[in-house]
Amino acid sequence: MPRPRVFVTRRLPGEALSRLDAVSELHIWRHPAPPTPAQLRQECAEAEGLLCLLTDTIDARLIDSAPKLRVISSVSVGLDHVELAPLQARGIPLGHTPHVLTDATADLTMGLMLAACRRIPEAADMIRQGGWTHERRWEPDMLLGRELGDSTLGIIGLGPIGQAVARRAAGFGTRIIGWTPSGRSVTGVASHSFDSVIEQADILSLHLALTPETRHLIDRHTISRMRPGTILVNTARGPLVDQSALLEALDSGHLGTAALDVFEHEPLSADHPFATHPRVLATPHIGSATIRTRIRMAELAVDNLIAGLNGEPMPYCANRPALQ
Ligand code: GLV
Repeated sequence: MPRPRVFVTRRLPGEALSRLDAVSELHIWRHPAPPTPAQLRQECAEAEGLLCLLTDTIDARLIDSAPKLRVISSVSVGLDHVELAPLQARGIPLGHTPHVLTDATADLTMGLMLAACRRIPEAADMIRQGGWTHERRWEPDMLLGRELGDSTLGIIGLGPIGQAVARRAAGFGTRIIGWTPSGRSVTGVASHSFDSVIEQADILSLHLALTPETRHLIDRHTISRMRPGTILVNTARGPLVDQSALLEALDSGHLGTAALDVFEHEPLSADHPFATHPRVLATPHIGSATIRTRIRMAELAVDNLIAGLNGEPMPYCANRPALQ
């Protein structure tokens, strides 16, 4: 029997792709930049399986141009790059990679939080720029920051990553309050209304999926109700925050620092105000970027794809209910 043709949009760390190679006719995009939408359509024209990343837009146009496509697996937990309706219409299952990246993303969130609280990038820059001099060797009021143990952390979104952040912050003695759309309560997190979390947090950390309902959840109005000096951390998705409103609030000094791993438009260009803003700590979407996690994501994405090709249930299928 001929092996199904599969297109993989990037090389992946680890050995997962050799397992896929053993059961499919594997085509891997080997260029440094991701395929353009037109290149993706061309590569998928004959494919039965697609293994993609969050940088690939999976929309009706792509699905229409891939008549043989019967399974898609994304190397990501978030699926806002995928239009679900055309997949549902064709009965195409969509795999994703939850849980395996929870710890890595929660670790980065804590890193950003601590860096913002203790002004670590500013302190490192001071040395790099020759600002640590004999006159300023140790000063009682030099680079004073905030302690996590003396702060209220507001967590918006209490799924696995929000909960993992709460567990870590508890170790610092932080007061933790949270809100999640489902209203579910979580051990160690005092449940509050959205408004109450926004108004009480010294540090606000976002852990929601991007949906039409959550786009610009943090807008000008929400920001105006935050405490002066609030630190905003976002390792979820950029469009949860209205970036222009955030920039205004940072410029005016209303907000303290924004520690951001995700942006409304990625990549963030070097001339974007956030790239050099003294109150912004920006990292390039590295929440899951550890060796262990990226290998586990690749393994899980391949497991999902092989299961789908075999007509078996995927370990993590995002649209199973709609297909049943
Ligand atoms: C990363 O942002 C992911 O969705 O996996």
